[in-house]
Amino acid sequence: MSAAKKLSIGWIGAGRMGYEMAARLAKGGADVLVWNRTREKAEPLKKYGARVADKLPELAARDIVFCMVSTIKDVKEVVGKLLEGKAKPKMLIECSSISLEGSAELRQILESKNIQYLAAPVSGNAKVIKAGKLTFVCSGPKKAYDLARPFLSLIGTNSSYVGEGELSRIVKICHNVFLGVVTQSLAEITVLAQKAGVPRHAFLDFVNQSVMGSTFSRYKTPAFVNLEFKVTFTPYLLRKDMDLGLDAGRRFEVPMPLATATRDLIQSMMGRGWTEQDFATLLLQQAEASGIKLKPENVEVSDGLS
Ligand SMILES: NC(=O)c1ccc[n+]([C@@H]2O[C@H](COP(=O)([O-])OP(=O)(O)OC[C@H]3O[C@@H](n4cnc5c(N)ncnc54)[C@H](OP(=O)(O)O)[C@@H]3O)[C@@H](O)[C@H]2O)c1
Repeated sequence: MSAAKKLSIGWIGAGRMGYEMAARLAKGGADVLVWNRTREKAEPLKKYGARVADKLPELAARDIVFCMVSTIKDVKEVVGKLLEGKAKPKMLIECSSISLEGSAELRQILESKNIQYLAAPVSGNAKVIKAGKLTFVCSGPKKAYDLARPFLSLIGTNSSYVGEGELSRIVKICHNVFLGVVTQSLAEITVLAQKAGVPRHAFLDFVNQSVMGSTFSRYKTPAFVNLEFKVTFTPYLLRKDMDLGLDAGRRFEVPMPLATATRDLIQSMMGRGWTEQDFATLLLQQAEASGIKLKPENVEVSDGLS
């Protein structure tokens, strides 16, 4: 906490994830200057003590800059603009879900300018961040991790250091392939139980209390039971991560039959235009393919987070 007060922080990206992460840093007492392409989205962070920058290069004079945008293309674009002038931060902490290759390219650019680089993708959605349960997986020089750690602790509940270079990227990609496959599997068994006559809330209550239940199955339960599909993670971003996983599978010669099938099911959902709601609409697609139309059960169920 005291270390967190000494260094100044720049924050790029106040989307669904970036906003909540920056909010926790600011609430924790860190000195945060935020920039977001759509400025209005960053404005409410002022109520937690953060300041909002007019121009991205203003963040270059901060000690540490976090980046949470979408794809590697976006990361490169914002980092390029950040470093347009003479000022440069001591360290960049990149949290978006990007490929190993993209991350390695970024490391080269930053290290050639003597900027430390920590690759620090995350697990959890915006609600998970609010509940203080976000987790980081980090790779890069150990001393960069040690410097970052007090800030990561303000944002989330745990950070795992997995080694040098881009190792955290492959961990995150594996994690999100698991997310896609588990969600599709949960959709299939929920629809199977329902078509056989079991209400979804009763089925998921059992699963959630069993050894197969998880933080994830619990926090997706309200969506599955009451068909609330407000976006936590878009189908577009999940497809990106499944593609990153399948690319890595090809590169390391690892067959991924479940991931391949799931990727195509996500693609089917997107091909029919289901792109604006949460990726958990995989449940609706599964129901349609099973010849049933789901209705909200209107039962109060816990998300296990509060
Ligand atoms: N949502 C999740 O549950 C979740 C969980 C773990 C990891 N992730 C990963 O976290 C990252 C962010 O996800 P999210 O759900 O927060 O996405 P999001 O809500 O779509 O936010 C994306 C952010 O990136 C900014 N951005 C995108 N392209 C940009 C560009 N070219 N130049 C400048 N800014 C740009 C957006 O700015 P504007 O506001 O101007 O559009 C916005 O601040 C992604 O890599 C995602 O895969 C997401």
